Parts: sequence; C-alpha cells; structure tokens
Amino acid sequence: MSEMARWLFLCCSLPCVAHKVAVVGAGINGGSAVHFLRQLTDDELVLYEAEREVGGRTYTQRFANVTVDVGGTAIYSKNRYMAGFAKSFGLQPSADDDLNSLIGIWDGQSMRTELNMDSMAMSALKLLFRYGLSPLRVIPVVREAVGHFDGIYDLQGAGQSFETPAELLRALRVFNLTQTSAYDFLAGLGVDDRFVRELVDGASRCNYNQPGTLNAFAELISLAGAGVGGHVFSLANGTQAVARGLARSASRQLLGERVTEVQESNGGYVVISEGKGGIRREQFDGVILATPLELTKIRLPASAKQLGRGREYQTTYTTFVHGMLNKTYFGLETSVAEIPSDIFTTESSTSPFSSYGVHKILADGSVVVKLFSRTQLTDEQLHALFPKVFEVYRYTWKAYPKLQPLPLEQWASFRLGRGLIYTSWLETSASAMEVAAIAGRNGALLMREALQAKTARTARSTRERKEFRGFARGSPRQVHNKPLLIEQAYDYGRVFKKATHLGPVQ
Ligand SMILES: *[C@@H]1O[C@H](CO)[C@@H](O)[C@H](O)[C@H]1NC(C)=O
Ligand SMILES: *[C@@H]1O[C@H](CO)[C@@H](O)[C@H](O)[C@H]1NC(C)=O
Ligand SMILES: *[C@@H]1O[C@H](CO)[C@@H](O)[C@H](O)[C@H]1NC(C)=O
Ligand SMILES: *[C@@H]1O[C@H](CO)[C@@H](O)[C@H](O)[C@H]1NC(C)=O
Repeated sequence: MSEMARWLFLCCSLPCVAHKVAVVGAGINGGSAVHFLRQLTDDELVLYEAEREVGGRTYTQRFANVTVDVGGTAIYSKNRYMAGFAKSFGLQPSADDDLNSLIGIWDGQSMRTELNMDSMAMSALKLLFRYGLSPLRVIPVVREAVGHFDGIYDLQGAGQSFETPAELLRALRVFNLTQTSAYDFLAGLGVDDRFVRELVDGASRCNYNQPGTLNAFAELISLAGAGVGGHVFSLANGTQAVARGLARSASRQLLGERVTEVQESNGGYVVISEGKGGIRREQFDGVILATPLELTKIRLPASAKQLGRGREYQTTYTTFVHGMLNKTYFGLETSVAEIPSDIFTTESSTSPFSSYGVHKILADGSVVVKLFSRTQLTDEQLHALFPKVFEVYRYTWKAYPKLQPLPLEQWASFRLGRGLIYTSWLETSASAMEVAAIAGRNGALLMREALQAKTARTARSTRERKEFRGFARGSPRQVHNKPLLIEQAYDYGRVFKKATHLGPVQ
C-alpha cells in the first residue's frame, strides 16, 4: 500500500472523517464556500438561508416583462469566479444591443458631459479635453490595482488560505489602498478636482451609493466596474441563478431557516435556528458564517474573537420604473434612444437619485429604468422623470458597507474560533459579487484546514486512549506514525512536539 492509500485507509477507518459543516447564508459568498468546499471534501455540507430562496444580495425579478437584477448585477470581464460560474451553469450574458453605450454626468440641472464607452478613441479625446491628464494618471493605476488583485486566483488555486482580510489584501499588495480615502489617494496622484467630482464620484455613487470618501481600493474597483480597463456584462437571466447553481453543491439546503446562535459543543458547534418547524439544533464540526454579522445579529460563543467593529451598511433604495420618459428632463434635445443609458450624478447634484440605468427600450417607446437613491423616491419625483408611469417596483437594501477607510485594529479575523470561520469581512475593502466569491473560497480553504486539524486531534486522542489501554494491560505498545502525516501537513511544529512527547516506549 502506498503511503497515501494507507493514510486514506487509516483515515477512513477512523470514526472522525465524516465531517459536517454548516454554511450560514446562501448568497454568492456562502454559495462559493459550499462550491469550493465540495471540491475539497466529501463532507456533509448544510446550507442555511434565512430567506425562503437562495441568492442573498443577488435577487432577480420579472418586472414589466423584463428580467431585472434588483441586487448584484454587473460582472467585470476579469472576474474569473463569477464569469466561470456563469459559464459552468450555462448562463448567457445579456445582449443589450438596443441600448447605447453613453455615460452621462448629471448634476441635477445639466448634463455636464457624455462619454461613449464604445468609442474609446472619441471618449479619450473628450476626456483629455475635459479633464486634462487626469485620466492618463488614473487608468494605469486602476489597471495596476486590478492586476494585483488578479493574483488571488493563482494563490487560491494553489490552496493558499488567509487568516485575516488584511493578510489576504497584503499578499495582493493592495492593503494600503484600503487605509486611505479615494479623495486623498487621487489628490496624491495629481488628479484634477473636476475628474474626481464628476467621474470618480459618479462611478462610486453608481456602484456604492457613496462618494469618493470611500477607500481607494474600493474606488479603483468601482472605476474598473465602470468600464475603465475592461468590459462589464450582466446575465440574461440574472445573477441570482449563479447563487442557485452554487447552492446545488450543498448536501442539504435549509431555506427559511434563520440562524440565531452558534454554541461550542463536543469539540464542534451547535447551530440553533428558527424556521417553519420551530427551533432547530444541529451539531457540526465546523461553521462558516457567510453573512454580515452586523445585519444578522447571530449570538456567538464567548470565545469568538476579533469580530470587527465600526462597520456600517449603506441603505440603498432601488426603484424600477416602467414608463414614458420625460424627454426634456435632462435638458437634452434628443430622442429617448440617444439619452445616455447610464447616468452618473455628482455628489453636489440636486438630483433625487444617485444613478440611473436603462434596462430596456420597448417597442412602444416606453423604457424600463433602474434608479438608485439614498432616500425613498416619492411619486412626485418619479412623475417629473416619467410623466406616464405604468409600473413601479421598490426594494430597499442594506446593500454594501460604507466603504470609508477603517483602521486595521477594527477589522475582523476570518477565523473566529478553531472551526468557526467568518467570511463576510472581506467586503470592508470593496463590495462586489467577485469579492464575495473570493471570500467564500478562502472560507472553504480555512475550513478544510480546520477539519484536517480536527481529524488529527481525534486521531491523536484515539491513539492516546489505545496506548493508555495497552500500557495498562502491559502489552507491547504499537507505535505507528501514519496518522501523523496529515498532522505534518497541517502544523509541523506542533506535531513535532507531540511526537517527542509520545516517544516510543523502551
Ligand atoms: C413578454 O416578452 C416576451 C418575450 O420576452 C414576448 O414574447 C411577450 O409577448 C411579452 N409579453 C408582453 C405582455 O409584452
Ligand atoms: C433563461 O430563462 C428562460 C426562461 O425564463 C429559459 O427558457 C432559458 O433557457 C434561460 N436561459 C439561460 C441561459 O439560463
Ligand atoms: C504600505 O504602507 C506601509 C506603511 O506606510 C509601508 O511601509 C509599506 O511599504 C506599504 N506597502 C506597499 C506595498 O506599498
Ligand atoms: C419634464 O422635465 C422638465 C425639466 O425638469 C420639467 O420642467 C417638466 O415639468 C417635466 N414634464 C412633466 C410632464 O413633468
């Protein structure tokens, strides 16, 4: 028998190997954790979701006979996980052929400029004319940050895990960017104020409903998402289908089951939840919390450490309108088809909405538009923009953290306890579906290590018990090293100490 086969045999003959893991939260984060953990283990994976369907902050609806994403929408072409999931689940990018590629900057009174994202040469000239050399200073920096961030795929592919978000971001050489505001960072680059107030604020208000007070890393990611240095797409059938595809890797999905508490118990954890069947308690070897603790208020064991603090969530009001657009609202002398499909706003804007995005122009000339705002849009405000409203759909989210720089001492750890992993803190740096997928994979890698360590502990204590019995009976002690193999892989230092302690009996 090869070492590996022998180890597998030994391992499978121990009672400890069939582990059970709970993953709390069936968004992209939890789904990614389940998906990647499934690739690493045959353990039983139980996915808890408080809502009655999986998706988390991906949420796809039919509105005005159009498929719309109420939550996470855009996938950046370099997002390897999201693009890969979509491909492997057979999900097609949406064909927005009927929409123009114009981005307008609106200050509530006038359209300050329009940029054609399809014709970069034209836009580049326009950008240079309007903003001087600023774009030339910013574009390489966006590309560089995205390039550094790309390093995560090789690291995770090689099985590298990270104990804290800061460790992960440092390995990618982007941590420092999270500790400075976009305003300060761009001023340091000599970027002109107008560029910041219009394009930078515009992009971050569209992505995060916040201005450039957010950290520079989030800002650079949001500029990438605005099409600077790559292309962006959405899915024809919406992004919630990605979460659904990921959740299929779970052994069991417990929907409508709200986790209220995680307790330490028997070397593992008991997850307590409330659902249709009343209160439920189930024992697990490990738990991955893939939901922001600020929003879920799950009670954790007293031993849970470094939960993080000071992070708030931005409330975003999402409004979908199907109606006839007021052609003069934006002060443009053009047809509806020529009004920019995406309109960003400045922070000083008097506009009631933070961003405006057309989903579809229908045959009768009516439009389906998505608006983000920081307060609920009133019927009067909507009527000024759409004199004729056919249908409205409103949804309020705690959509993403307020992304301003947060001092490192307030950050959480990914590992709250030996087998208790918290993945959601990574979005303190930047919030996007891809970031959630990366956090989920890191959670899976940390969980595998925790389970291997648990196997090693159990093997050790089983052996110690056997050895103790053997000693008591006075029979020769059997010394076998095999279970040490896995320990060595896990933590050589500790194994070495233990092995010395156990030393063969003379
Ligand atoms: C809804 O859209 C489908 C195609 O996506 C079309 O065939 C159908 O006629 C539309 N229904 C209405 C009521 O517009
Ligand atoms: C999208 O959804 C429609 C029905 O809503 C379905 O017929 C189609 O197969 C789906 N396409 C993909 C790529 O998921
Ligand atoms: C990050 O900032 C620290 C302290 O200011 C500095 O020592 C370090 O070199 C910086 N790291 C990178 C990658 O820029
Ligand atoms: C259309 O928008 C313009 C500019 O805001 C406004 O003056 C006008 O009253 C609006 N039209 C309607 C029908 O609300």
